[in-house]
Amino acid sequence: MLKIVVCVSGGGTNLQAVIDAISNGSITNARIEAVISNNPGAYALQRAKDHGIAGICISPKQFENRECFNEALLKQVSSYQPDLIVLAGFLVVIPEIMIREYRNRIINIHPSLIPSFCGTGYYGLRVHEGVLKRGVKVTGATVHFVDEGTDTGPIILQKPVMVEEGDTPEILQRRVMEQAEWNILPQAINLIANGKVTVTEGRTVIGRKENKEV
Ligand code: GAR
Repeated sequence: MLKIVVCVSGGGTNLQAVIDAISNGSITNARIEAVISNNPGAYALQRAKDHGIAGICISPKQFENRECFNEALLKQVSSYQPDLIVLAGFLVVIPEIMIREYRNRIINIHPSLIPSFCGTGYYGLRVHEGVLKRGVKVTGATVHFVDEGTDTGPIILQKPVMVEEGDTPEILQRRVMEQAEWNILPQAINLIANGKVTVTEGRTVIGRKENKEV
């Protein structure tokens, strides 16, 4: 059984998608041990509570400096001995020490087709504002492993979404969530929980075992 810790900062619709996928059996062999938020007001914490999942807030504001926060975050996460850490709209830079300790065991959902509209400064609505400003016709979402860079780790799944005439950042954000994020995040977790994702030379291979058997 894959033990998951989900890190959140806001509304938690991606967290909800994962909770629902576990309840309806689209994700097997996995369970959420805890939800950790850096923001005490995150609605995601309420979603955790509603489903009987431990919800913890650990905010940089509670600590003297960033280093102390980073240490506390790592300690809190590690207390659950997770097999997988899921960043579901977690707007905190992950400490390098945590990335090293959980190499290829931290995944992130990003609301664009990486390597477009990603990296420093591209998060939440800003991604969709950038998409509309540039005038691309296709956007989407990406699930990837987290490495030391910003949105640079091995890509696990991507799904395209059409940009439509008259889109606002908010409308596009909702479409990307509905058509891509809420599908590929649970899918990626299910693949990992069932041993179907390996990382070789900075790239992922999906379902290799099955392919070999065919
Ligand atoms: C999601 O769109 C997620 O892809 C994005 O924040 C939103 C969180 O929504 N993450 C990033 O931009 C990370 N760079 P949610 O709290 O409703 O899941």
